[in-house]
Amino acid sequence: MGMKFMTFLWLVMFLVNNGVEGGEGGQLAFDFYYESCPAAEKIVRRIVEIAVAKDPRMAASVLRLHFHDCFVMGCDASLLLDSNGDISSEKQAGPNLNSLRGFEVIDEIKYVLEEACPGVVSCADILAMAARDAVLLRGGPGWGVYLGRRDSLTASFSGANKFIPLPNSSLPTLISNFKQQGLDIVDLVTLSGSHTMGEARCTSFRQRIYDDYSEEHYQYHHHKRDKTYRRALRSMCPPTSGRDNSLAPLDFATPLRFDNHYFLNIIQGKGLLISDNVLLVDHDIHWEIRKLVFAYAYDQDFYFDSFAKSMVKMGNINVITGSQGEIRKNCRFINT
Ligand code: HEM
Ligand SMILES: *[C@@H]1O[C@H](CO)[C@@H](O)[C@H](O)[C@H]1NC(C)=O
Repeated sequence: MGMKFMTFLWLVMFLVNNGVEGGEGGQLAFDFYYESCPAAEKIVRRIVEIAVAKDPRMAASVLRLHFHDCFVMGCDASLLLDSNGDISSEKQAGPNLNSLRGFEVIDEIKYVLEEACPGVVSCADILAMAARDAVLLRGGPGWGVYLGRRDSLTASFSGANKFIPLPNSSLPTLISNFKQQGLDIVDLVTLSGSHTMGEARCTSFRQRIYDDYSEEHYQYHHHKRDKTYRRALRSMCPPTSGRDNSLAPLDFATPLRFDNHYFLNIIQGKGLLISDNVLLVDHDIHWEIRKLVFAYAYDQDFYFDSFAKSMVKMGNINVITGSQGEIRKNCRFINT
């Protein structure tokens, strides 16, 4: 009996996986809600617009939510679940705690979508659309968002601690971290450019402004310039502890705009995080990275095209399209 049932289950899963999906991105489609919820994109855009008008940094925060969702079990809104029953929330994990923001914006979008088309639009898709809108609203590129992701039935606290890269990561660590997600060196450089907007806490850049940098950390060593930059950061972030939550812009030049200034900054050694500055270490094997950084710094249109492509790729990481997922009614809880 048990065996028969397992065989049956296996057969169903086989059919679902092979018959319906297939190919890159599973069965995601641009027009997924064309009939079931034609206003979906408009509703998301409108609410992100209002949130960003009230608080410009929210654009950065919403973009980051999609990234932190996709890197843990895939783009399945696992990030949005609160702790409850067996679920231990990813929000409590080290890289997320006291750091992620924007959950209320996602709740509001979900609330309005449930009024307009109940049980249709997934929380994972909301994150993907909101991230795109956030970038566009701050002057960045737009792109078509593939839709049809379903929401996870669980979260992974340990996965969040394991897969979200730390701000003091070395370049080899970053490369292998992205590789685990099916993302390559181009995606790493390109998506790191998201640090063209938003802010980081003192705890995230303390090591970067007090540790002595060795050559391997830091190639473009514009010593004097970095000294001035460090001095300013040190004045707001004391060496060992205290003022842990004081904020500095990730892109000191144009903190609220999505542009290519991030790349100009790291060429000058003025990336805020160690993980930003390590992109330009001097090893021949990383010639490809250096070429890309300079190309992006020189040509914003090229950077924008590339960013759109990498975001689509990131948005396809391990999406759920079958019965392992659901459309949550409330992004914070699985349906009962
Ligand atoms: C390459 C590895 C990455 C590392 C090590 C990293 C690390 C961080 C850290 C430490 C912060 C500041 C958090 C805080 O202090 O509260 C931050 C902020 C941010 N990150 Fe990343 N990140 C990476 C890649 C990405 C990617 C791929 C994206 C988007 C696709 C992204 C988007 C953002 C944004 C927009 C912010 C600002 C958020 C805000 O102001 O609320 N990051 N990141
Ligand atoms: C990175 O920071 C963490 C604490 O946030 C620390 O435990 C670890 O040793 C640091 N790694 C390096 C390579 O400095």
